[in-house]
Amino acid sequence: MGIKPLIFIHGGAGNYRLFSEEALQRRRVLLNEIAVKSFEVLISKSALDAVEYAVKLMEDSGAFNAGLGSVLTLNKRVEMDAGIMDGKTLNVGAVACISNFGNPISIARRIMEETDHILIAGVSAERLAEFFGFKPDSSLITEEKLERFKKVYDAWIKGERKRMLKIREIVMSSPDLFNFLDTVGAVAIDSDGNVASAVSTGGYWLKLPGRIGDVPLVGCGFYADNEAGAASASGVGEAIAKVTLSKMCCDFMRNGFSAQEACEKAIAVLTRRIGDNTAGIIAVDKTGGYGFAFNTAGMCRSIFIEGMEKPAVAIFPEEPFIVD
Ligand code: GLY
Repeated sequence: MGIKPLIFIHGGAGNYRLFSEEALQRRRVLLNEIAVKSFEVLISKSALDAVEYAVKLMEDSGAFNAGLGSVLTLNKRVEMDAGIMDGKTLNVGAVACISNFGNPISIARRIMEETDHILIAGVSAERLAEFFGFKPDSSLITEEKLERFKKVYDAWIKGERKRMLKIREIVMSSPDLFNFLDTVGAVAIDSDGNVASAVSTGGYWLKLPGRIGDVPLVGCGFYADNEAGAASASGVGEAIAKVTLSKMCCDFMRNGFSAQEACEKAIAVLTRRIGDNTAGIIAVDKTGGYGFAFNTAGMCRSIFIEGMEKPAVAIFPEEPFIVD
């Protein structure tokens, strides 16, 4: 039997128990819509096109911490990272510390397809984006974000939030600092058995200017190889990078584990070596199996597999997430 195409997207791992029901519902609706739209692209085009499109829609939504919804650095700037990988060719494109463009994922793809490099950062990435024809977007810093910044910053100054210490200490002592970890990502497999992965983020509140996390680093925030599968991660970038979470997950699949087993094993290693409440991951294996795991309170996720009437959507571990 042939492979059933599937698209699996995530809107980030984090402490969604702190969110209002309205905010959770907004995410569920978006996840559902974006899974449907990107599945159409998967069927008519390819896994690579589908993951880019899914992440682009999440960047555009303003509801997740990527693109329009990106959080602010310590000096009130937006600095975004994104990465994409084609499992058929092992081609990679990534962009880091980019400020004025709404769709870092599409810039990452152009870097993959039109340069000799895999990762371009900062001002040079912005110049290249303009050369590619992307239009700068001045709407990324909003009044709402500046108000939220003030709350987070004031709490930090008062000592209610410990930060700029080692990341583990931040996570252990002040987990709500990271309650907006909605990095977005997607993995897909098409009917030819080609897999792809994409990921995009604004990082996290009050990060130091110039800080680059896991997202643009191949093998950390994303990885795809037709001989193994594809994975896309979300969480504390420094923790994810230390264990090269996405590559580790793909290597478990390469060694014969299913996508679900690989996700569970990768998150178990992360939890044991770095700590709890650090990350989540989604994956597809080369047979078309899917998996996910997280050690945070929740992870926004949605999956659409050929033959389903509508996508499955869930945030918390106890929610049903059944697809067949
Ligand atoms: N995983 C997103 C970040 O840490 O930047």
